[in-house]
Amino acid sequence: MCGIVGYIGCKPAVPVLLEGLKKLEYRGYDSSGIAILEEGGIRITKSVGKLAVLQEKLAKRTFSSTIGIGHTRWATHGRPSDINAHPHMDCHGDFAVVHNGIIENYLELKEWLMAEGHCFRSETDTEVLAHLVEHFYKGDLEEAVRKTLAKVVGSYATVILSYKHPDMLVAARKDSPMIVGIGENEYYIASDIPAVLNHTRNTYILEDEEMVTVTAQSVKFCDFQGKRRDKIIFEVTWDPIAAEKGGYEHFMLKEIFEQPKALKDTLAGRLTADKVILQEVDLTPAEVAAFNKVAIVACGTAYHAGLIGRGLIEHWAKIPVEVDIASEFRYRSPLIDEKTLVIVISQSGETADTLAALRESKKKGARVVAITNVVGSSVAREAHDVIHTWAGPEIAVASTKAYTTQIEAIVLLALYLTQAKQTMSQEWITEIISELKMIPDKAEEVLKQAGRVQELAKYFEHVENAFFIGRGLDWAVAQEGSLKLKEISYIHAEAYAAGELKHGTLALITEGTPVIALATQRDLYDKTLSNVKEVKARDARVIGFTFEGNHGFDKSVDEVFYLPLTANELSPILTVIPLQLLAYYVSAARGNDVDKPRNLAKSVTVE
Ligand code: F6R
Repeated sequence: MCGIVGYIGCKPAVPVLLEGLKKLEYRGYDSSGIAILEEGGIRITKSVGKLAVLQEKLAKRTFSSTIGIGHTRWATHGRPSDINAHPHMDCHGDFAVVHNGIIENYLELKEWLMAEGHCFRSETDTEVLAHLVEHFYKGDLEEAVRKTLAKVVGSYATVILSYKHPDMLVAARKDSPMIVGIGENEYYIASDIPAVLNHTRNTYILEDEEMVTVTAQSVKFCDFQGKRRDKIIFEVTWDPIAAEKGGYEHFMLKEIFEQPKALKDTLAGRLTADKVILQEVDLTPAEVAAFNKVAIVACGTAYHAGLIGRGLIEHWAKIPVEVDIASEFRYRSPLIDEKTLVIVISQSGETADTLAALRESKKKGARVVAITNVVGSSVAREAHDVIHTWAGPEIAVASTKAYTTQIEAIVLLALYLTQAKQTMSQEWITEIISELKMIPDKAEEVLKQAGRVQELAKYFEHVENAFFIGRGLDWAVAQEGSLKLKEISYIHAEAYAAGELKHGTLALITEGTPVIALATQRDLYDKTLSNVKEVKARDARVIGFTFEGNHGFDKSVDEVFYLPLTANELSPILTVIPLQLLAYYVSAARGNDVDKPRNLAKSVTVE
């Protein structure tokens, strides 16, 4: 997730662009840059680091240009560096481009453009846009952009500045947000409303596959075929703080609702109809066959994603898997060697315990694959192979979209290993891939039931204890649901393997004790149902989560919540969403600081 801005009008552009970028820094902040038009050409200033570094660079001069574009980056393709920071230019410096999103076919396009004689400077996917515009430009900028977009597969919000058209900006969006702010003889373009709120409350919201051309006096919208579109003005009534959270009350809620997009982005370019493609993992089938063990190491929520990974890799790729909490791992002298595949999972990529486990594993000769959300993080730099989750920056301390995308990354890796070992049939692989592709839309369906979860949450406002139970992968999700509730609502919650209750914990179940029962694994359903009956017989208040169509479960529980049907192995991605919402609504109702729960930090860089 990156932030982009554009300005055309009568004010000096540089301060307007910097102010807009400041407001979008929450979308990413590993590097930033701007491009303005000056006599003689496009002038680009960019820098790795926070926006303040760029501001300092620009403070040395005043600029009179009244047109420009800017970008604050959250690295996806190419590590954070001066060269990889946006804007990017074509070979001759006639076009400058900023972009938010992922160009999935950039390698193919880059190869083709290089064969046509184009020279690339950065490692980014974005740079292909600048060269494509150059390639197609025949005097009409809009036409060149349209032809460029026809070649591109992926998601983007992009703005193009051209030295050949000093009085216009052309922008387009597909699957990444973009708005246009309306001033007097001036227009603003931005990824999000906060960037323009100091100047105007009148905006246009671009739809998918829509282009816009602005001059200081005019605005014109078209579809990707060049057909004109009329749009209505959207007047923003939010205050600036609410605007930064996209109108949501807390970042956590915004991030929960961002999951369909994050899930879609994480799959982008990694699946064909019958195959997983992980360009970032470089293992031959012979190397995969030589692993006699997988060790998954992580902390907190990321560890819970690892528990799901164990189920999938053992079941599909038939390799034994151990899962460890990183702070325990290295002190128990783990038996790992060059025949072990170690998978470390970390949203931030900076968690001290996880990093130490990674280093320990390398020292023992293991191959290390990292799953992380932050390009250029320590974990990403030090692992042999890295699978990035494309969740975008996660600001709330309680992890939500990072967790579901971590599960997706684990699913992809498990399938990659399965393909290499040929332990499942091609028919089965094709089927699971088709289910996986439907997960983002099914997550959207689950979110439509947020109001229902808010109702359920009322019961928890005044309770002191809660239990989460489930079997198999449901037990792993139960552990994550319980952690979410504990960390932000401060209710004592415990997760139990449903079959284990009768060995002690059942003593704690009394009248009204809230029990969240997860019963999404169809092969384990009957067994889980027996355990639900055990707690119900002790007068617990049971809220059941099960798959759509499983009518009858409602007779055994007090409330039932149905989840869209999917493969058993993929259901954790959907099941956790109402549990995240439950924790959120309980915490908010209790008046807690949801985004910054007491005693906790987003990234734990100490042992
Ligand atoms: C809980 C949470 C933490 C993190 C843990 C690991 O909501 O966010 O449990 O999952 O601190 O952090 P990363 O993934 O950054 O290594």
